[in-house]
Amino acid sequence: MSDWLGLTGRNAVITGAGGGIGKAVALELAANGVHCNVLDRASELVEKTVAEITSKGGQATGFVCDVTNEAEVTSVASEIKNCNILVNAAGLVRPGALADLKTSEWEDLLKVNLTGYFLMARSFTPNLVSSGNGAMVHIASISSTNPQGSSGAYSVSKAGVVIMSKQLAFELGSQGVRSNTVSPGLVRTPMTEAYYQVGDVAQRRDAAVPIGRVAKPDDIADVVTFLVSDRARYITGADLIADGGFSQTLMSSVPRPGFGD
Ligand SMILES: NC(=O)c1ccc[n+]([C@@H]2O[C@H](COP(=O)([O-])OP(=O)(O)OC[C@H]3O[C@@H](n4cnc5c(N)ncnc54)[C@H](O)[C@@H]3O)[C@@H](O)[C@H]2O)c1
Repeated sequence: MSDWLGLTGRNAVITGAGGGIGKAVALELAANGVHCNVLDRASELVEKTVAEITSKGGQATGFVCDVTNEAEVTSVASEIKNCNILVNAAGLVRPGALADLKTSEWEDLLKVNLTGYFLMARSFTPNLVSSGNGAMVHIASISSTNPQGSSGAYSVSKAGVVIMSKQLAFELGSQGVRSNTVSPGLVRTPMTEAYYQVGDVAQRRDAAVPIGRVAKPDDIADVVTFLVSDRARYITGADLIADGGFSQTLMSSVPRPGFGD
């Protein structure tokens, strides 16, 4: 069988790898022969992901690390040698309209979703540069360009991630490191599972997406796996939208008498 992606023997670090998207990315990379350094702040989730990878014959090492803690991030970066791949997926969302948001709520979210991504990118840059073929993928969101109401600084954090990635692509391109974002739409993960337990929300969300369903974490993991591989060697500074077409539905959300139903 051909190893089309050519990822065998690479070494990756994945943050939020105990959660929905990060875990799916770690499993998919491991299935493609990548040694996965599984990073999350929740130790039981780290253990679960490592166990799942190794039970399937993959290679994984677990790290309990809070991405907002500079000392912890620096320490993990010094322990992991020869890292080719960084996937930033550790994130959270909290409710709140901007007009009512406390400064601490604003800062707490940006600290994880934006500063955490930055600390990981900065700390792993020397590693990725010395690998000669480094690739970063940062999980952003379509909410970086479509304001997600009542979600505090969430959209702001994702817009920041997109421009941070583009800046990294510019600054690191000549040193052999690519940086891209993947922007998912609606994905059913532990982060969002509670929504899907309410009434007919699951069906209504599926119906809102042109492809007819919200994403599974695997749908996003496949895109990330392509982007970190050499098959995407000429792609950097891109924001790859993986939303089943959901962000293209604006013109269909208003009545247009005489044009179909
Ligand atoms: N689920 C969606 O619909 C969706 C859509 C677009 C983008 N995203 C983004 O994808 C990424 C992954 O989201 P998910 O849905 O898999 O969420 P999730 O809650 O299932 O997983 C997130 C993981 O990050 C970890 N984490 C949180 N804060 C951390 C910290 N400070 N340090 C280390 N680990 C930390 C959590 O323990 C959790 O395991 C996030 O950045 C999220 O914003 C999610």
